[in-house]
Amino acid sequence: MSLFEEVRKRRTFAIISHPDAGKTTLTEKFLLYGGALQLAGSVSAKKKQRQVTSDWMDLERQRGISISSTVLNFSYNGYIINLLDTPGHQDFSEDTYRTLMAADSVIMLIDNAKGVETQTRKLFEVCRMRKIPVVTFINKMDRFGKEPLGLLDEIEQHFGIKTYPFNWPIGEGEFFKGVYDRIHKTIHLFEKTEHGKYKAPMQVSSLNDEKVRELLPGELYSQLVEELEILDIAGSEYSHDTYLDGDLTPVFFGSAMTNFGIEQFLNHFLELAPAPQSKKCRVNGLVHPADDGFSGFIFKIQANMDPNHRDCIAFLRICSGSFERNMAVEHPKTGKTVRLNYSHKLFGQDRETIDQAFAGDIIGFSYNKEPLSIGDTLSIKPCQYEMIPPFPPEMFALVRNKNPDKFKQFTKGIRQLALEGVIQVLHFEDDLGQTGMILGAVGQLQFEVFQYRLQTEYNIEIELNFMPEYTHARWIHGPAEKIETMYWQYSAKKVTDSHDRLMALFQGEWSIDYMQEKNPDIEFLKVPPTDT
Ligand code: G4P
Repeated sequence: MSLFEEVRKRRTFAIISHPDAGKTTLTEKFLLYGGALQLAGSVSAKKKQRQVTSDWMDLERQRGISISSTVLNFSYNGYIINLLDTPGHQDFSEDTYRTLMAADSVIMLIDNAKGVETQTRKLFEVCRMRKIPVVTFINKMDRFGKEPLGLLDEIEQHFGIKTYPFNWPIGEGEFFKGVYDRIHKTIHLFEKTEHGKYKAPMQVSSLNDEKVRELLPGELYSQLVEELEILDIAGSEYSHDTYLDGDLTPVFFGSAMTNFGIEQFLNHFLELAPAPQSKKCRVNGLVHPADDGFSGFIFKIQANMDPNHRDCIAFLRICSGSFERNMAVEHPKTGKTVRLNYSHKLFGQDRETIDQAFAGDIIGFSYNKEPLSIGDTLSIKPCQYEMIPPFPPEMFALVRNKNPDKFKQFTKGIRQLALEGVIQVLHFEDDLGQTGMILGAVGQLQFEVFQYRLQTEYNIEIELNFMPEYTHARWIHGPAEKIETMYWQYSAKKVTDSHDRLMALFQGEWSIDYMQEKNPDIEFLKVPPTDT
């Protein structure tokens, strides 16, 4: 098979959701259709499946290892699927954001009773920033929830994008009978069985078809006809380009637990979702995924916690060409050659040695000496992909070294862990000219991992004093003379990041708004300014 055909088959995506919306369940069902798991539905099978996707993370957590976002790789209907796993609420960290950098598209999963929730909103913002195409799946239709039309409105209002429902639910809660496919004009009715069996889809010429009337109770039929009419009159038109630009989200309704609508959803999604696309390279313009020179970028680094082996695993998204085990590639940042010999294909916790992979795939490889860091490009031809930006931290803690005699070791550890992206390190100077260090993170777990690793790998004890009053951080950008004389609100804290860029910590959105009002010539940015 040609490289072009290999690339065209690949779909690399992530599922974003708020905890409990049903991401694990939906992932399990995808794996089931992909033949990667045998049984779905029974409690024992479910437990086994969960080990694949999440339990091993608990194990890692008990051992204090950084929580990984990895990838599930399986094939389905001629597609090769790379499903990037983004950890749930308690595991939320910058890793979760960075994983989205390796995805070509995203499924946004929403609980029909809860609608748009905070975690989904945060992750969606990253998709928006990167213009990642998003398909929405509204889950748990077998339970009573919000009105479907109201949910569309909620998504449009919250995210400022258009929605286009590809299917429409027929009833809800215990009266959820199936879905109407608006594209193929087919009705899919389901039966609630242990393994989520469904009746064969039934082609209908139109909603006036006698068969539809016979199949649905009168009230459900009228409701369906009415709602579809509303969609036709008041809804958006579907435009695939607008979806690819991230300005429209195709919406599907279903129930992951009972399998209602899942197979149809997966089939539609794989058709809609883009295969790997060309990527901007700072050296020689756009790089096409089917270009024969291998290239990729590192989006995650995980230290191996086995004290006998101080190696790390880097997770690399292949952007062009093909990979072969033992291949030697350039690390443009240092000009050195890196040999990718211990490379793995990942399936949850299992690591299988991989001999070949193609653009769109994710590989993990071990290394122990090279100074690799997140965002680094590895390639055969000269290439340098865009950096992965840091995200504004939302949790902060003052850090103090309990063993001042080990200052060198403390500095070395902090530098290395910051390089790996475990945490962000910010510096400040107080009124007396004393300097100090603040750790910034987007999830609590990052502090725990940081503390654990400093202790086990560098033998350094630290004290953390949390600063719950600060909840927002922004990079400050503007003309130097304006920054010098800018107004600082009493409650805002001036800090610099590890690249010496000026930032401010705030106690809430209101504080950012106030500072913005007082300093109209200055920008308060969620990502570092590009000219720094
Ligand atoms: P998460 O990974 O997003 O956190 O969610 P997860 O799949 O673990 O699902 C959270 C809860 O929602 C689970 O119930 C799960 O069974 C349920 N759920 C998922 N999809 C559906 C659906 O389509 N319909 C209904 N009614 N429930 C759904 P639990 O009671 O917390 O766990 P369990 O005992 O069922 O495993």
